[in-house]
Amino acid sequence: MLAVEQLHKSYSTAQGPLQVLRGVNLTLARGSSLALMGESGSGKSTLLHLLAGLDRADSGRILIDGQPLDNRGETALARWRREGIGLVFQQYNLISSLDVAANLAFQARLAGRHDPVWAAHLAARLGLGDLLQRYPEQLSGGQQQRLAIGRALAGRPGLVLADEPTGSLDEASSDEVLALFLQLVQEAGSSVLMVTHSPRLAARLQQRCVLHQGQVAA
Ligand SMILES: Nc1ncnc2c1ncn2[C@@H]1O[C@H](COP(=O)(O)OP(=O)(O)O)[C@@H](O)[C@H]1O
Ligand SMILES: [Mg+2]
Repeated sequence: MLAVEQLHKSYSTAQGPLQVLRGVNLTLARGSSLALMGESGSGKSTLLHLLAGLDRADSGRILIDGQPLDNRGETALARWRREGIGLVFQQYNLISSLDVAANLAFQARLAGRHDPVWAAHLAARLGLGDLLQRYPEQLSGGQQQRLAIGRALAGRPGLVLADEPTGSLDEASSDEVLALFLQLVQEAGSSVLMVTHSPRLAARLQQRCVLHQGQVAA
């Protein structure tokens, strides 16, 4: 469903252009899971931002079901962000003025795919079933993180992009949350690309690749 071809991305800095991605290639089949590893600063978040349509590459192509993402206009990109993907970042980006139930359903509603039965199932599986009327500030860090996972999956997006989603949890909790995350991704029928530092967590996904010196190696 996803193919990345010869993707290049640089940032302009005070010291001149910083080449971060130098010809990245990768593919992800529908329904499969890929762990993206690589040392800090290797460009993992940069790649996720490009895939999410939050930033544009200098050159190269991102194909979604064979259709290029790169040459879409702003409206189509906004639609991709709203309807095509689910994002789980390390900062949860929950909406503080909305309760748990509304945060969970937020993106699914925008995408026109709110399904109360699926939302209730997600809430129950994520241990949020009794917390639906609370606000994000009234949740523990782990509960906020599970809510962010639920929100990303509520609309059953084709692609879930996760940037170190369990990075702030201890080892035992991150193993447990990751197992739950992967199971729910599968139930949602989504593909997932997950950035992680942890070879232990990466081993739980179907495929692995490493970003190094601007390129991806298996
Ligand atoms: N907006 C930006 N402007 C300038 N440099 C950036 C910007 N975003 C990231 N970088 C730099 O690009 C490199 C890759 O960053 P990033 O994609 O966040 O790496 P990773 O997620 O693998 O740690 C780093 O050297 C970082 O400092
Ligand atoms: Mg990063």
